[in-house]
Amino acid sequence: MKPITIKPAKGLRGTVVVPGDKSISHRAAILAALSCGKTRINNFLFSDDCLVTLNVLAALGVKIRADKNKNEVLISSDGRLRPPKSLLWMGESGTSARVLLGVLAAQPFVTKLTAASSLLKRPMARVIVPLRLMGADIRAHKKGRDEFLPLAVFPSKLSAIKWRQEVSSAQVKSAILFAGLYAQGRTCVTESTVSRDHTERMLKLFHASLTAKGNKICINKSVLKTPGDVNISGDISSAAFFIVAALLVKNSKVVLKNVGINPTRIGVISVLKRMGGRIRFLNRKDLFEPQADIEVSSSDLRATVIDEQEIPGLVDEIPVLMVAASLAHGKTIIRGVKELRVKETDRICSMSQNFLKLGVNVRVRAVNKNETLEIIGGRSLNSAKLYSFSDHRTAMSMFVAGLAAGGVCRLDDVFCINKSFPGFLTAFKQLIC
Ligand code: S3P
Repeated sequence: MKPITIKPAKGLRGTVVVPGDKSISHRAAILAALSCGKTRINNFLFSDDCLVTLNVLAALGVKIRADKNKNEVLISSDGRLRPPKSLLWMGESGTSARVLLGVLAAQPFVTKLTAASSLLKRPMARVIVPLRLMGADIRAHKKGRDEFLPLAVFPSKLSAIKWRQEVSSAQVKSAILFAGLYAQGRTCVTESTVSRDHTERMLKLFHASLTAKGNKICINKSVLKTPGDVNISGDISSAAFFIVAALLVKNSKVVLKNVGINPTRIGVISVLKRMGGRIRFLNRKDLFEPQADIEVSSSDLRATVIDEQEIPGLVDEIPVLMVAASLAHGKTIIRGVKELRVKETDRICSMSQNFLKLGVNVRVRAVNKNETLEIIGGRSLNSAKLYSFSDHRTAMSMFVAGLAAGGVCRLDDVFCINKSFPGFLTAFKQLIC
């Protein structure tokens, strides 16, 4: 793919409708497939990752009709999955692989999973270990102390566990809760800090027997019933790129329509407000996931400290928060960022290398088995040749940096953006003055 040119923007003005939430789209499709009846999913995210989940469910015998023009997916199911005819392809979607593993572990047939090279490198032991404790028979590729795709899942009877999750992960929690739908007894997951709770909300919507109190979620073996219609809010992680861009580019005022504002996902908003960002929620609606329009105006940002406990609520937004920090006055400190090493790429590395070219002073320090980032902000960003490292969030963050830079930038490859946000560049073009 040809590199793109990014010119500094003189202002961003207008209204944007960001596409449906990626995490919720995966879960809506999976639960619709596991419940009896017809489910209509509105505002489904037609991105590469969510299409992986749809294709896997189709390979497991689920009837799916997808209308991309209407962002609508219709799923008809008898609640049962069927043996696939071939290997299940997880593409680059870590969420599909990890979350579906909880479902596949409970099926009365063998499944084999493989994936694209970037996902073959991502750790899977975090999901496999608790599922094995439940009785799952999973044989994966081992390297060092971790396990990886490709892997095979053999039939087994699952029983409930009480699992304490030291590093909060919504994918791990979801896999265990999905396995808990089939397990004998009451499965409970306790997290040190609550990670995104879409699975819990959606399991309730599909009538699972689930309780969530504080950091502890418990589920009993359940038969799911479809609610009929599921409406998905705009993805706050996608909205974050427009929010940061509108804050950084002078003369900007942008409204983002119908964005999900689930309290476990809006860490990015709290941090940006703390940095002095002018951000307002308008027209709040309390659906099964709360949503609102988000109004953002250009602001002078100041540095902040982001603590380790805040990370689960903003883990995917760290790259774009780093861009905000690069132009904020003072030293921003972000603690507990180790997980960024095992995302689609090593995001500490991808962002640091780009920052070097933009002239941003960034330091990475090892602290108590974790890592801390220090970013000295406030100087104008150089005109530079930037790299996505084939990672959607690095690419979109660098696009935002380019809009706010002092000169023209080039970005090598934006194809990876389709993983979560097809239409990203077009949506931005409509705002640039
Ligand atoms: C996701 C959870 C997060 C996030 C990922 C999507 C999900 O990962 O980074 O993009 O949909 O459950 P972890 O569970 O590894 O924190």
